[in-house]
Amino acid sequence: MTTMQDNRPATLLKGGQIVDGAGVPGWTGDVLLVGERIASVALPGQTPPQMLADLRATNGVEEVDCTGMVIAPGFIDVHTHDDAAAIEKPDMLPKLSQGVTTVIVGNCGISLAPVVTDAPLAPLSLLGREQFLHSTMRAYADAVNAARPGVNVAALLGHTALRMRHVAALDRAADEGERAAMAADMQEAMDAGALGLSSGVFYKEAYAADLDELVAVASVAARNGGVYATHIRDELAGILPALQEAALTARQSGLPLVISHHKCAGPDNWGRTRETLPLIEQLARGQEIGMDVYPYTAGSTVLREDLVDGIIDVLITGSETHPEMGGRYLADIAAEWRVSQQEAAVRLKPGNACYFQMREDDVQRVITHPLSMIGSDGLPHDERPHPRLWGAFPRVLASYWREKGLLRLEEAIHKMTGMSAARFRIGERGLLKASYMADVVVFDPLRVKDGATFEQPRQFSEGIERVWVNGALSYTASDRATGARAGRFVMRASSPTASG
Ligand code: ZN
Ligand code: CU
Repeated sequence: MTTMQDNRPATLLKGGQIVDGAGVPGWTGDVLLVGERIASVALPGQTPPQMLADLRATNGVEEVDCTGMVIAPGFIDVHTHDDAAAIEKPDMLPKLSQGVTTVIVGNCGISLAPVVTDAPLAPLSLLGREQFLHSTMRAYADAVNAARPGVNVAALLGHTALRMRHVAALDRAADEGERAAMAADMQEAMDAGALGLSSGVFYKEAYAADLDELVAVASVAARNGGVYATHIRDELAGILPALQEAALTARQSGLPLVISHHKCAGPDNWGRTRETLPLIEQLARGQEIGMDVYPYTAGSTVLREDLVDGIIDVLITGSETHPEMGGRYLADIAAEWRVSQQEAAVRLKPGNACYFQMREDDVQRVITHPLSMIGSDGLPHDERPHPRLWGAFPRVLASYWREKGLLRLEEAIHKMTGMSAARFRIGERGLLKASYMADVVVFDPLRVKDGATFEQPRQFSEGIERVWVNGALSYTASDRATGARAGRFVMRASSPTASG
């Protein structure tokens, strides 16, 4: 990998509260960054003196006073749809400004690779329309590296993308030949360093996939040391069998499972994390299971009339047929048009919406659960995105640690860093540790707070002071993006050619 910036000065972060990502309580100390790696993590003033003297004599050492600040590993956003954004909008400010230094793309069965089209259908269109140009994961990885994004990008291969490429009729399971073609693409992706497979059998384009089809593809990921992340078939009434199905798929294929954005959706299901979490715990005794979660009671996805029940609030975040309705509530639009909310949704399609389909006690149970980690699920192409795109990570710190006291600080950060890297097999990141890559955030624990709201979704967070990506200072609270854009495509730890 590139070492072009290795003659820049080293950086000594002095006297901050070090929360190292492993889940242990913080302690006061100094962190030394040299080139693209962490050189030392030490008690105050205990950085090896010879090391400092040598650096001072060569490229110099810049000192940053971190008194009163937390020094943590850069956050890993395990659930994103930034596949195209990383190329089209490479500053990646929505993420960098939260302290995020690595995004995992390709979630929910939706990935750019290996689909080539200029007219992507839903749900692939969640990734925009312009970037379906990559027929292999290798080509996607090259495009990411050429774009020089502001954060690192690690990728899952999407099962729905595979179906759209290879399965002739989406209302049935793949036949043997189609399964083989999908498996071949999975192998190519693993060779190129992908983290594994994602699926979104919730979406109608993948709903017909059966266990044979999923296992045929997932077992290729398994043989190569990958993971399986899934947006399960049903997050409403049928959530328990849907969780069982996800666990069975992972078990039969032989890989670790990540349940995407775990939630109990719809008023009839509110409170049912009291059932789902014990089931997940029981399953996790026999296989590796994790889950991701975002800190809001609203979800967001494509506009679908079957998700409109007339009870929950639905906020239209974009409509191709009626763009002027973006930012308005479906109930108000329906009243104006004198039609049912479902009929209004049909007229507004294709589009995207936020569904206020969860209850806070469920969100709290999932966020505080020891198996959960934080993923934004932000949608960067929406006209008026769900605020999770710009605010998820600071919101966990502000609301669930500092204000509500539901998490310890080291726990909250572990769910954003060390646990995330371990679950997704990302090497040399997620911890503050000598020799690890220098992805680092310095934030003010008293001020850190999300700024994005449903009304004003594109707002910077407060209190994120400085962010380094691969050793390059990439964001500061005063100047925002520094223009360093030091991110790269990150391969899974076990991949044949993984480095950095
Ligand atoms: Zn999803
Ligand atoms: Cu998603």
